[in-house]
Order: sequence, then C-alpha cells, then structure tokens
Amino acid sequence: MHEDPHEDYPAAVWLRDNCPCGQCAVPGSGQKLFGITDLPRPDEIRIERAERDADGGVTFVFAPDGHTSRFDAAWLADNRPGRRLPYDDRAEDAKTLWQAADFAGGVPSSGWNAFANDPATRAECLESLLAQGFFLLRGVPVRQRTVLCVAEVFGFVRDTNYGELFDVRVEEDPANLAFSALPITPHTDNPYRDPVPTIQLLHCLANAAEGGDSGLVDGFHAAATLRREQPGAFDVLTRTPVTFRYRDAEAELTATNPLIGVDALGRIKQIRFNDRSMRPIATTADDEITPFYAAYRAFAELLYRAEARLDLRLEPGDCVVFDNTRTLHARTGFTASGHRHLQGCYADLDAAASTLAVLRRSPN
Ligand code: OGA
Ligand code: ZN
Ligand code: ZN
Repeated sequence: MHEDPHEDYPAAVWLRDNCPCGQCAVPGSGQKLFGITDLPRPDEIRIERAERDADGGVTFVFAPDGHTSRFDAAWLADNRPGRRLPYDDRAEDAKTLWQAADFAGGVPSSGWNAFANDPATRAECLESLLAQGFFLLRGVPVRQRTVLCVAEVFGFVRDTNYGELFDVRVEEDPANLAFSALPITPHTDNPYRDPVPTIQLLHCLANAAEGGDSGLVDGFHAAATLRREQPGAFDVLTRTPVTFRYRDAEAELTATNPLIGVDALGRIKQIRFNDRSMRPIATTADDEITPFYAAYRAFAELLYRAEARLDLRLEPGDCVVFDNTRTLHARTGFTASGHRHLQGCYADLDAAASTLAVLRRSPN
C-alpha cells in the first residue's frame, strides 16, 4: 500500500454515501442501511487518508467519524461522477430516432413462437421496443384474449377502466372515434391518465376491410426536429401544461402535462399527443395562447409528414407492441363492409426493461 493524497477522488460525501461495507449496505442487493441524516454533514466529511492497494482498490478513512470504506477499482471507474450524463433508458439519448425510410429493409419483428420460447429472440424484440419504440409479432394465434398472453411474456397487463383489454371494431353510435371506420391521425393513447400506460399492444384478429392500415410515427424524432428547426416552439410545448380528459358513464379521468415532456437535463422523455381528448388551453397569460397553437400546429405538421409515418398493414395474427410515451399510432379509414377487429391492451416499460436486463445478465 502507498499513500496517494493528491489523487483526484470524488467528493468525500459521495464516497461516504456509497460505502459498500457491511455496516452501510446489504451485501448482494446493495440496499443502503442508513439515511442521509445518519451521516455527518456534507461539508464536514473529509478524506483523512486514501490508500491504494495492489489490485487498484482504494481504502478511504473519513473524518470526522473515522469510518473506513474500500472501493474496487472497477466500481470507482464505472461510477465516479462527472464521466457522462446520467443514463435514463426513457430519455432520447438512449433511443435510435427514425423515419419511415430507416425501415426500408424491414421492421423489427419476430414470429410468435420464437418470441415466446427463445430468450435471445425475446431480448432482441425488447431491445427494439426500447431503442426504436416498437416491434411486430407475426403468427400470434388468432384467438380472443391472446393479446394478454403476449403482454405476459415480458411484463404485466395494466388494467384500466376499459378492462384488461379493449376491442377496436366498428360499433353503432361509437363513443370513441376508434370504434368507427374513420381514419385516426397519429396519437398517443390515454394522455388523460397519470401515469400514462407506457406500452400499448394491438393484436389483429380480422382485417378484411379495404383500408384500415396502421401507421407508426417516432414522436421523439419529430420533437428533436422541432427543437432544431423551431427552438422557440419546442420550448413552448415543453412548458405549457395541457389538460386531457376522458369521460363516460363510469369514468372521469383528467391529467395535466406538457405535450413534450423533458427530464431535468432537458432531454426529450415523453410525448403526449391526442387532439381528441385535449381540453381548452388555460394559460396564465392571453398572449401565450396563439404561440402555443402555432407550436402545437408546427409539431403536428412534423408528426403528420409522409416521411415520418411507417405504414404497416396488420393482418390476422399480427401484434404490434409499442412505446406509448414515444411512438404515435394511427390508422387509415376503411370501408365498413369488411370486418376489422383488433384487441388491445396496455402494459408498462419498467417491467419490459427489467425482463430485458435479466435476459442480458451474464451467467456468472
Ligand atoms: C386505438 C387506436 C387504431 C386502429 O384504439 O387506440 O388508435 O388501428 N386504434 O384501429
Ligand atoms: Zn461503511
Ligand atoms: Zn389509439
């Protein structure tokens, strides 16, 4: 061991807070056994001694309480602050932004059997869900309720007031545009819910109609384009709260959030876009209304561009799984004569990301 007082170590309080000793953290899970108020005050904690051992680990003795912590070299190298932006698998820098032409060679897809039975295929699909915001399954049994089995392969079905699943087919006197034969422009589902369901699944049971083709749009790509081309408009959409609402005989749901959600570092993190459920804009100043509408319209124009929209025709047995915080979905209108029936359900990205992380663990 040799003393190395001049080395540029992370702040003493950071090291102390991350002490891996058995008194401070549970071995294995790493769960902390103390709270911030159990430590000396941040400005009182100092490194009294630092000693590097032969294998590169460092042992620190802290003042004022004499606590001793040893860190592995690799752990320190990977975790020390100031190296990179904090990783967030929901934020734009963890994503591969796309336009339709990027899938000229094919979309991320798999057969149902491989997805259900082969962990490597399942991992690839979940990687696509996180990176591109969707994947497509083919050959899913054309049976009612099977969409729930698809969700259960990688996570948990999110029940809502619509039940565990919903049917999308033409209804007489529909309460929702989805249950007519009219086209639906690109949107995210359920922005009137908080938390929003972060994954949506749509399983095609029948699509004999003329039309009724699906479309997907990368909302993060459109938001990033807006930021580059019209930064003022981007800014307006990140800071104007918009209220969305859904109301029927049994439910009344309301949530207020900006159309473009950014994280604490300003990274694009969540798109909410659904003209059908938007309530009147209520800002504190009249002179913010028209700029909001101009920005909203500019964003819509980017989302509705032909280059942005990936066209997919769902055939019976196809199931599209997408990130409802990023990937907008749409459909073309169809002739009411041919039968069209989708079953959908919601699930969440946290469980899908967990499933992927466990699949990726090395065997050791
Ligand atoms: C929906 C929806 C699309 C479709 O039900 O949320 O957008 O293809 N449906 O019918
Ligand atoms: Zn400790
Ligand atoms: Zn929808």
